[in-house]
Amino acid sequence: MHSDIDSVIHTLKVQRTLPDGEILSLLEGACAQELREEAESVAAAQFGRGVWLRGLIEWSNVCRRDCLYCGIRRSNAGVERYTLSREEILSSCERAYGLGLRTFVLQGGENPQAARGLVPVVAEIRSCWPDAAITLGLGELPFDIYAALRKAGADRFLLRHETASEAHYARLHPAGMTLRSRLECLRELRRLGFQVGMGMMVGSPWQTPRDLLADIRLLEEFRPDMIGIGPFIPHPDTPLGSFPAGSAELTLRLYSILRLILPDALIPSTTALSTIMPGGRKAGILAGANVIMPNFTPLPRREAYALYKGKASTDGAEQLLDIQKELASIGYHIAPGRGDFITH
Ligand code: 5AD
Repeated sequence: MHSDIDSVIHTLKVQRTLPDGEILSLLEGACAQELREEAESVAAAQFGRGVWLRGLIEWSNVCRRDCLYCGIRRSNAGVERYTLSREEILSSCERAYGLGLRTFVLQGGENPQAARGLVPVVAEIRSCWPDAAITLGLGELPFDIYAALRKAGADRFLLRHETASEAHYARLHPAGMTLRSRLECLRELRRLGFQVGMGMMVGSPWQTPRDLLADIRLLEEFRPDMIGIGPFIPHPDTPLGSFPAGSAELTLRLYSILRLILPDALIPSTTALSTIMPGGRKAGILAGANVIMPNFTPLPRREAYALYKGKASTDGAEQLLDIQKELASIGYHIAPGRGDFITH
């Protein structure tokens, strides 16, 4: 016989969903330890204690949006804006590939003109490294640009929904940005054949447990291939700069809950988590995450790509060695290959 606590988690594992009240009780901290252990065992059964690496290249901090939480928002005049050149992008890919990575993630501010300029660069990456996956995170773009990027050889697209509650979304974003438009983009990306990633910040200003419940329901319904979740971290040069950071503990609980709901999902242990929690990267893996995204942005540009304050960062071979050691210390290893979404 299971105790009450065990039976909630057992039900979640078997049915891959739970009634609202029980999800809320898990979010509020009920059976945190059991939840984590169950999620880790599900991830280990799916992925054999292998963790995929993605080489993150922050290709541009030019952004037309003015999201109230984000350090590279348009009205932050303190940011030195840059867009990496073709050569800088290719040499970042080359470094990442040389160290064994088989996914490049080009992430940047929302900037349709520059995104269009990226199309031939994506084609070049595709032809130089045919066995590597290309992931993009470029915001909401006109659909013809998504299509051109897909045709050029991009495989995956990350577009966090940030919060699944319309009202909450409206408080975090300026007038004119809507959750609906973001979801339309995600549906189009999927239609174009991209593997898609979505996700939210944890502990963003005004977020309630009900908002997180709505996030979980949206993820259950949409079933993205990848789920990016990190704590909100205030950036002093933004309107939300004096709000407190989100909780690492709650972020970990969400990794675990979502691992049980979507056992096959690719879930990164995010940089934001390790920024607010020493040992956060390992803790994320032990809570059910299975992806780590080391940074391959050319060092001189890193500082200008500050979405939030105090972002954790190292570089190159040293960075990978750290990850390798950290994973080994908990019985995990770096998994080879692209690490595409696969239904088990
Ligand atoms: N704290 C945490 N995450 C942030 N992001 C942007 N600003 C912040 C912040 N202050 C996240 C958003 C975005 C992703 C690229 O970075 O979720 O989708």
